[in-house]
Amino acid sequence: MKATLAAALLVAPLLVHAGQPPAAAASGSQSGAAASPGRGEAHPALWPATRSRGLVDAATEKRVGQLLASLSLEEKVGQMVQGDIASVRPEDLRRYPLGSILAGGGSPPLGADDRSPAPAWIATAQAFRAVSLEARPGHVPIPVVFGIDAIHGNSNVVGATVFPHNVGLGAMRDPALMRRIGEVTAEETAASGIDWSFGPTLTVPQDVRWGRAYEGYSEDPAIVRSYAGEMVRGLQGDVAAGHLLQKGRVAASAKHFLADGGTRDGIDQGDADIDERVLVDTHAQGYYTAIPAGTLTVMVSFSSWQGIKMHGNASLLTGVLKQRLGFEGVVVGDWNGHGQVPGCTPGDCAAAINAGLDLFMAPDHWREIYDATLAEARDGRIPLARIDDAVRRILRVKAKLGLLEPERPWEGRLDAIGSPAHRAVARQAVRESLVLLRNERGLLPLRSNAHVLVAGAAADDIGRQSGGWTLSWQGTGNRNSDFPNGESILAGLREALVAGGGSAEFNAEGQYTHKPDVAIVVYGETPYAEMQGDLRHLEFQQGEHADLALLKRLKADGIPVVSVFLSGRPLWVNAELNASDAFVAAWFPGTEGGGVADVLVGTAAGQPRHGFRGTLSFSWPRRAAQAPLHEGVAGYDPLFRLGYGLKYGQQATLAPLPEASDVEGAVWNVDRYYQRGHTPAPWGFRIEPEGAIDAHAVDAGGIQEAGRSFQWSGTQAASLAISGAPVDLSRQANAQLVLRLEYRVDARPAVPVRLAMECTPACPGAGLDLTPVLMAAAPGEWQELKVPLTCLRDAGADMSTVSSPLVLETTGPFAMTILSATLSADGVGAICPARAGQR
Ligand code: BGC
Ligand code: BGC
Repeated sequence: MKATLAAALLVAPLLVHAGQPPAAAASGSQSGAAASPGRGEAHPALWPATRSRGLVDAATEKRVGQLLASLSLEEKVGQMVQGDIASVRPEDLRRYPLGSILAGGGSPPLGADDRSPAPAWIATAQAFRAVSLEARPGHVPIPVVFGIDAIHGNSNVVGATVFPHNVGLGAMRDPALMRRIGEVTAEETAASGIDWSFGPTLTVPQDVRWGRAYEGYSEDPAIVRSYAGEMVRGLQGDVAAGHLLQKGRVAASAKHFLADGGTRDGIDQGDADIDERVLVDTHAQGYYTAIPAGTLTVMVSFSSWQGIKMHGNASLLTGVLKQRLGFEGVVVGDWNGHGQVPGCTPGDCAAAINAGLDLFMAPDHWREIYDATLAEARDGRIPLARIDDAVRRILRVKAKLGLLEPERPWEGRLDAIGSPAHRAVARQAVRESLVLLRNERGLLPLRSNAHVLVAGAAADDIGRQSGGWTLSWQGTGNRNSDFPNGESILAGLREALVAGGGSAEFNAEGQYTHKPDVAIVVYGETPYAEMQGDLRHLEFQQGEHADLALLKRLKADGIPVVSVFLSGRPLWVNAELNASDAFVAAWFPGTEGGGVADVLVGTAAGQPRHGFRGTLSFSWPRRAAQAPLHEGVAGYDPLFRLGYGLKYGQQATLAPLPEASDVEGAVWNVDRYYQRGHTPAPWGFRIEPEGAIDAHAVDAGGIQEAGRSFQWSGTQAASLAISGAPVDLSRQANAQLVLRLEYRVDARPAVPVRLAMECTPACPGAGLDLTPVLMAAAPGEWQELKVPLTCLRDAGADMSTVSSPLVLETTGPFAMTILSATLSADGVGAICPARAGQR
């Protein structure tokens, strides 16, 4: 059912419009593809030639060839499917011989929860492996390969060493340390029974409004390039020599191919509408070192290039990646990403395999995709040669990894997980990643015998300093007790001060009993991962928020203030910079909070124990609306350039910075109200009376939680609104824009439903009668509704001050799902429903 709806949604021509607002064009459609031939078609000759090193050798190929020849078509197709441990049980592998499993960011080990130490993970890995190795008629025992997002250490496992996120590692400019970080990550992953890390992320984010920007090392391709190969070598070791698992190494996955960081407006899973040259010169740079270093796998990006979804782009997956770049490992998909290819669903997508995908990441659709792919292989829609090539690559990776050997000496080495030696590597990375942006009168380093007030909500919170992809998917809900081997920033400061003859007093709100010599305030972004971290502008927090008020109060008390700012990206913090005597960008440093104290707290004489080494790997904005901002962008004028970072002993005075935000005028989002599961700022859903409409997120269009379902109980009049600060839509109305809704009726209304807008202070009219439209819509089928703004204006909306661009109201029972609500310039098919009766 779900798959069919998704298919209808994705092929429906009504979803394809040129000239939509940018984010709408990114919603999985392939606008423009058909219209402009050649768009999204790569030219391999423009790319440098590279080659996988260490993957292909005669002995391995012989063994793989024999194994391949022994497999039935069913077993081959099984190798090409990966299910998620939240949706597949070990027993399922008897009927569906999957070649791989993964644990997604929110998927706990079997019979346990997200916050489990290594033994639960080992037991899970062993349970799946055991079934894949069973001797059964018609089954060739080949172990499943188990992948996980070990993207800043094996951060899914309680007790693991958690490294700074990549944004911080980029600031280190230390490729040699990257290799060491890769080794540590591999050892902790292998010790947990897991074979494969879904990293390194080689994205080159050009617009940090993208919530995944912190997964990238830098906006600068040169930094990404200098790290990629080292990280692959660290994770995998010497691929040519093989037996990686036996040496505490795991498979790497260079991701996400390609230009995930190049999407317009930094929209997650959006469209990179850029020249092929920019792919070659910017976004692909990391692959030029990762492939020769022998990365065993490459993960495909959710995003599109020139309107074509990467998962269906043969010219890039096969022509460029496999042929020109000579990649000989496995091309793995990303989380149902194949389902976004036109004509595909999460459960059926020959087009992706034919484009060059080898392994479907089909977390919850492994059964459907197995059945569909098998049928397509049988009837020739997927050539058998393509199947054999994919399976050969998968078996090659398994062989090189040492997965086919029975010994796993690292599995169960619990002493490796969060070991002192590993933590020391992470602590060094923390020290090297800190970037000093302001240091008036040499306030830092602090004398170790000072009395220091430590304040701020993030000072004693290892979860907050670790960010997303930590124990839970979004990194939310973690407590210090979930990190038995970790140390908060506060704990590290206290340790250093006490050891140095000083003292630390902690109070999150900044109250103190003895007037401190100096205050350190730790604050910043709260954890987020995919989707949840996307922004429309770079303003850290609007107005005088609690953190800023705290900085100002301490300063007013005559206390010198040090800001330790946690974030996944540079943000506009002019007011916070003004209110701080010293300001340190600490990114998301991970579990080793002690690294912060190593640099901030000096000797008793005030000499540094460790200097600042970090320099910005992303440009720091001068204005909140300054995005995209990266070196090379037209009019590049950051507050702090790429590469900026003060050192101890360096004098630099920061003149007071303007504090007026330019967000309101420049980037206030007036045209996207709901999309892919989000209500981008300033919008949010509002239900009145509260609780009168049951609302929940649902998967739609093959995208997790992209839709929002609403059910009116019918016991009272209830309204659903998308509301925010009032915006002026007069220009949009004059330009004949339409309010566009993608929706589905789940249960037809019993009594009239009203569609209206809300204005501040009030709109005079009653809005439009939507009942006939909803009654005509077949329940369960996706629909598009376009209503001209002028039609709403004529029905009473004051376009100059719209505070709710969408209000739906009824007194009876009714249920619908909304997939998007936006303004569109494409008025084709728009209707103007009759006015509703007066309220
Ligand atoms: C999983 C993540 C995955 C995401 C994709 C979550 O439920 O846990 O690993 O990346 O879904 O949307
Ligand atoms: C993310 C990938 C991740 C995968 C598995 C996806 O949603 O985009 O980066 O590896 O989920 O969790």
